[in-house]
Formats: sequence, structure tokens, C-alpha cells
Amino acid sequence: MTEPTQNIESAFCRNGKETPEPIRAEVTGTLPSWLQGTLLRNGPGLFSVGDTSYNHWFDGMSLIHSFTFKDELNIFNTHFRAFTYLLNTIPNFTDNNLVNIIRYGEDYYASSEINFINQIDPSTLETVARVNYRNHIALNLATAHPHYDEEGNTYNIGTSIMAMTGPKYVIFKVPANATDKEKKPVLKKLEQVCSIPVRSNLYPSYFHSFGMTANYIIFVEQAFKLDVIRLATAYFRGETWGRCLKYDKDDVTLFHLIDRKTGKAVDTKFYGDAFVVFHHINAYEEKGHVVFDLITYKDGSLYDMFYMENMKKEIQEEGETVPSPVSQRFVIPINADLKEVPVGTNLVKLEDTSATAVLQKDGSLFLTPDSLFEGLELPGINYKYNTKKHRYFYGSRMDWSPKITKVTKVDTVTRTYMEWTEKDCYPSEPVFVASPDAVDEDDGVILSSVVSLSPKKPPFMLVLDAKTFKEIARASINASVHLDLHGLFIREKS
Ligand SMILES: [Fe+2]
Repeated sequence: MTEPTQNIESAFCRNGKETPEPIRAEVTGTLPSWLQGTLLRNGPGLFSVGDTSYNHWFDGMSLIHSFTFKDELNIFNTHFRAFTYLLNTIPNFTDNNLVNIIRYGEDYYASSEINFINQIDPSTLETVARVNYRNHIALNLATAHPHYDEEGNTYNIGTSIMAMTGPKYVIFKVPANATDKEKKPVLKKLEQVCSIPVRSNLYPSYFHSFGMTANYIIFVEQAFKLDVIRLATAYFRGETWGRCLKYDKDDVTLFHLIDRKTGKAVDTKFYGDAFVVFHHINAYEEKGHVVFDLITYKDGSLYDMFYMENMKKEIQEEGETVPSPVSQRFVIPINADLKEVPVGTNLVKLEDTSATAVLQKDGSLFLTPDSLFEGLELPGINYKYNTKKHRYFYGSRMDWSPKITKVTKVDTVTRTYMEWTEKDCYPSEPVFVASPDAVDEDDGVILSSVVSLSPKKPPFMLVLDAKTFKEIARASINASVHLDLHGLFIREKS
């Protein structure tokens, strides 16, 4: 059992404060001179307005902060501020973009999973514009975890719930050159890649991210589903979308493999046991297989962990169980001749994984995963390895509660891991930044903003050597920093 901690609710559930003017941080250790740019981070930061309090952490109003690494003197600045709508007394659940920062073209957006995104100025954090996906493509939800290719194009997936022909999943691309001088919305240049029919019109799958390789998009149609009728009336009943999810443990998972060039799904059906997934780690192709790593759960109760009453608990109560996130590797053979092998054959030929894909009587393949690691969430990789075979991934350790106390690096080859932890400290999702002359995959640093419960220790930006996981610098910030969800590092243009 985890040791009880002091006043954790004050760190998780307190209202954040704006720091509109940059504050210089106090650096100990040595920041790499090549580390130039801004880390933008997003997450819920306001949990009560007047007499109204939110019951769920994900209902908290978005608060964005930025950490700027600038000039040869390694001066570190930070400031963070809320959107103007933070001041609204009536929460507008349609534009509370609290999950991530995403890039379309050369523009940056605060994003959740709804049809509105807020363009922000990454240097001032001011809101530039509110953009509605629906003005450019018919969809009601879209993820806050797009993919970017080497040319700078952005790919994302959403759900069109209200389509005349019934719900469907839609994959789209925003070209790298979508930002134009006339300041037309970048989504004007959005291109639809393909649409995927849903298995059940009333219960389309919920999804939080997806996978991409050099040639394929991987979409996991999971047994964790949206109740469309409930969702349609949620706002009027004062419910958040999280209340409109249901997990069907007796269903199966359907994996869609879509050719990125043609937009067509591979003919073979790929199934697996039911599970819940929020985050894809990475996906790649190897020797005629598509390999993709996911963080999976055995049920959908993760959402319940984030109710404020649960987050304020300091110790685990007897009999209380929470699902453990498991990093799992799935493998789909793409070149196998299914007519030449008997039913029951495992068609995975890779030697470094125990994942299987077994031919069924109906010609489908049933996938069973290879477990890589247990107890890690908020995964990230060296993004240069996105769509390519990676060895390492990074993330936050989660024990019985969402209170994160460790940053972790997992080696998928040796199946070993490294950790950073410090007493009374709560580190954010780690973000990998590659060094400019990187040779090895883990040549670079890990950035994590750390909130401390000790009154003697102000919040700080932690910088780890990604290879050794040793601390090389920390920059203490004399300001309020809140626990958050996701972020994006924007390199300074040289
Ligand atoms: Fe996420």
C-alpha cells in the first residue's frame, strides 16, 4: 500500500492562479545550452467558482502554463494564465479545452475532445480564436492526441454522431502549410482521409488516441462506448460526457487497420478481448507486421478515480480496487497468406514478443497482447520514433490512485525500467526532448513539472538525462503550479 501523504488534496484540487507576467526561475544544476523553446502544459486548474464546486477533476476549468527555456545563459521563465472563460460563473462544457496542446499548420490549440478548440498564442497564452471543427468537417468529437508526420502534417480522428447516415468515425489530415497569411482558419484546408462505420449506431466506441505507422492508421474500436442518447441530453441534465460512457465487458475489441494512402481498411478482421484504452504509446511496421503498444485497463473505472471525493482520499480503503494500467504490445501480421495455414495458427513471426494473432474459422485473426509493463500512464516517446520501431517509452507511475509520484523510463528490449522520485513530490507527464546531435534514441532530456507538498520546496521544472535518468537540473518557480494532464514542447526556431 502507498504511504499516506500530507494534504494531497491541496495539490490536486486547489484552484490555480494566473501568473500573467513571466517569472524567472532559480536554476540549480546545468541546463543544456541546446534546450531552447517552450513547454506548454494544459490541465484542469479551477474547481470552484463562487458557491459552485465541480465533482470531477476533468470538469475543472482549463489552465495553461508555459515554461520557457531561453538564451545561452539558460534563463528559465515561466508564466501561466487561464482562458478568459475561466471567469465565467456558468461553466460552458462545450469549450473547456483542458486536455492537451495540439498543432495544426503553424498554429497551436488548446484541445479537449469536443468540437471546439481554442487557438492560443504560445508566447502569451492569450486566446486568439475559438474554432469549431463543425464549420469544416461533420464531427462532434475529436481527439486531443493527433499525430504529426515528418513533413509537419497533422492527422486526427473524430466521431460524427449526428450524421444523416448514422454515426461514423472520421480520420482527417491538416496539411503542414495550412496556416495562411490571410489568417483564414487552418481547418479550411482540412482533408478527410476516410470514414469508418460504427458497429452500433447507439453506442459508438469512445477513443482518446489512435496509432499510426508509415503506411497504416490503427483505430481500436473498443468495448468502452458512448451512450449517444445520454450524450445528446447530457448538457441539459447537467452531466459531463464522462457520465455517458459504458463498458461492455462481454463484447470484443475490433482493431481497424487503414491504409494511409488509399483510406481503405484492410479486408481481414482483427479482434481481441474487451479492454479499455486511452493512450497509444507508438506503432510501427516490422518484417511484415504492424506492431502497436497501448496502455490498457480491464474495465472503465479509471474515470471514477478522478471524482474529487476519491482524489481527496489519503489512504486506500479496505477492499478498494482500481484498475492497473498495463502497457501491452499487439501485433498484426499483414503479409500472411491466410488460405495456406490451418485454423488455430499463430501468424506472428517476430521473435522479441509473445503477442499472438491466431487464425479463426471465419478468416479473422484474434489478437492476444504481450505485456510490457504494469502501472504506467501518460506515455511518451522520442517523437522522432513515432511510426518507427522504438525501444524506450516514458511515463508516470500510477499505483492505487491517480496521484503520481514517479517518472519512469521503460526499456522494451531488456524489459527493465528506471525511475525518478522524491519525497512529497508529484511530477507531471514526462516530455522527451531530443538533443540536436542525438545518435541514440534516448539522447536527450526528460522535462517534468513537479508540484511539491513541502512548504519549503516550491514547484520546479525537473530536467533529467533521458539516458541515465539522473537529474541534471531543476528550475524552482516561485509561483503556483498545478497538476495537469498533457503538454507539448515547441522548439525555438534557429
Ligand atoms: Fe490523454
